[in-house]
Amino acid sequence: MNVAFYEKVWMWAAGILIAAFLTTVVVGVAGSGMQPPSHVETIDPTAVEQDPRFAQPGVTVHERGVTVVVVGSMYAFTPNEIRVPANRPVTFRLTSRDVTHGFQIVGTNGNTMVVPGYVSQFTTTFREPGEYLIVCNEYCGIGHHMMHAVINVEAGSP
Ligand code: CUA
Repeated sequence: MNVAFYEKVWMWAAGILIAAFLTTVVVGVAGSGMQPPSHVETIDPTAVEQDPRFAQPGVTVHERGVTVVVVGSMYAFTPNEIRVPANRPVTFRLTSRDVTHGFQIVGTNGNTMVVPGYVSQFTTTFREPGEYLIVCNEYCGIGHHMMHAVINVEAGSP
């Protein structure tokens, strides 16, 4: 096949660009541990309490890490006091019973939207024991500024 010189140049340039784009995705996922803010998992927002995934919000410690189930609603998080161990992966699973809320663990990379109808999930590890503030960072109504919770990260075994 006879391909003109300039056409070859463009084909190589396009190929290199595609490889570069794919590399940034792989580096972001594998190298920096980035993840999408939520995966596609739906829930009926009018029946959160009846849903087995959210019927008992709170902390579960298991072999591979810690799971924290949190329900957001105007204007509180349930539970609003969370205890987790330091230096272990903590997976947060969140949903909302009413409107869109935010869930930001101040001073860490823990931050996600909490959207009715969906389950938001992210995993983070707390290296420093201490008390962390969680705030709602999506305007959700008249009590938005009061919507907060606290995480106590404890040193040593859970
Ligand atoms: Cu909930 Cu702002």
